[in-house]
Amino acid sequence: MPAKSNKDSLHLQSISKAEEAMASLRRNADMGPHHLNYHFTAPISWMNDPNGLIYYRGEYHMFYQIHPFSPENGPKHWGHAKSKDLVFWEHLPIALAPSEDHDMHGCFSGTAVENNGLLILIYTGNVHSPQKKQVQCIATSEDGLIFTKHPGNPVINQFPEDGTVDFRDPKVWKHEGVWYMAIGSGKAGMASALLYQSTDLFNWEYTGKMAESNGSQGKIWNCPDFFELDGKDVLLASPAVPYGVKNTRKSIYMIGKMNYENGKFTQEIDGDVDHGPDFYAPQTWIDHQGRVILIGWMDMWWNPMPTQDYGWTGAMTLPRLVTMSRNGKLLFEPVPELQTLRKNHRSLPPVKWSENHSGIFKNICGDSLEIIVEFDLQSCTAEEFGLKVRCSHDDKQKTLITYKPDLHEVTIDRQNSGTTNGERNVRNLPPRPNHTVKWHLFLDRSSIELFINDGELVMTNRIYPDPSSLGLDLFAKGGSVKVSSLDLWDLSSIW
Ligand code: FRU
Repeated sequence: MPAKSNKDSLHLQSISKAEEAMASLRRNADMGPHHLNYHFTAPISWMNDPNGLIYYRGEYHMFYQIHPFSPENGPKHWGHAKSKDLVFWEHLPIALAPSEDHDMHGCFSGTAVENNGLLILIYTGNVHSPQKKQVQCIATSEDGLIFTKHPGNPVINQFPEDGTVDFRDPKVWKHEGVWYMAIGSGKAGMASALLYQSTDLFNWEYTGKMAESNGSQGKIWNCPDFFELDGKDVLLASPAVPYGVKNTRKSIYMIGKMNYENGKFTQEIDGDVDHGPDFYAPQTWIDHQGRVILIGWMDMWWNPMPTQDYGWTGAMTLPRLVTMSRNGKLLFEPVPELQTLRKNHRSLPPVKWSENHSGIFKNICGDSLEIIVEFDLQSCTAEEFGLKVRCSHDDKQKTLITYKPDLHEVTIDRQNSGTTNGERNVRNLPPRPNHTVKWHLFLDRSSIELFINDGELVMTNRIYPDPSSLGLDLFAKGGSVKVSSLDLWDLSSIW
């Protein structure tokens, strides 16, 4: 066993400090009424982006951005967890901690790959003062638990002429024996992914701009991700703008073709990975079955985070299976493994729903529910219809999920959902050829994930109602709508 270098010892010390801080925060922690029952969260403190998703030695590994010292944003470490089934997670020790001059303000987002049996992390070393600098670094592990930073870090020390100081979140993959790295950047108001290549993961050569915003895809790209699906190449990116300004699109996918001869990705079609306000920085696993599975940070930089009062912030979305639709767009559906959490199945026979039906769910309520409901639009006379969830007894607190058939509009209305910014999340949803609308809804204490029409559109929202607001109801206004089917389950906790 080679003696540990001074740098290795510093890294181990930084990890121990982080672990001790988390243990002490946990000691007296009451995670509070908003703590999620079946979504992944860090043991305590602040977390954001998923990092280094990899199926390694028969298990799904997930690393993620964590600030272990408080529920506030701060110098990022890499948290680590693993799962056999994408449902139940085991927390593992912190994998990376800032410990060197070039990563002192954070080990930022990146990738994990396997090479010759080693688990390798590729991440951004972040320094934000006195001068902002972002560089790319590597760490390796023989056991998938303890990571040693490469003594030659940073392996990319300077952004190229096409980039700027925003130069982060490397995505690394192998194609025909060559390693490729796409780094998120942007220049002159146009986001881009910059491409490097290497034969050994340590020496990298700049190839050029792999892809650039078409003008509506942001000024900077964070967290690029890249995978193949049904003979196409897919690039994901999380648009960003300079600090303090909101970007209008939070995470996008671009389907197209990668030309490995010239290192250019040509996008043919784009879309939003998720249409909700609390979703960012998605990444993917390619698992042993060849499935593409996506997970994202279920929060967003500038949104209210009332869970900070209970010592924790941030969560992951449910893992989502990514497939290609017949019209060449991406579909996102909850992975089937989640069905193991179902209990107490209840269903509604087909029924024509109108204003006087309200209240039928008197005996059904909850904050950890899965609901699949299908509406038939053919005979619909209602101006709007939908579901009310997390309602208080006096009906003052509630979150409304509404469809307006005339406007083809779906809305998640959080004006009365507790401590949110009260945004109404509205999206256009054209009817399907069979004139139905299908909602697959996951409700977990402080989150709503709505999968619409078998994954055509997903909306992720955080809500923070009172713990006693547990009511549920269907509603129709100004007419009736046929509810073709409704199935509902309580979902068990994963903790
Ligand atoms: C995206 C992001 C990344 C960065 C990380 C820092 O949410 O800003 O660009 O690597 O978070 O935690």
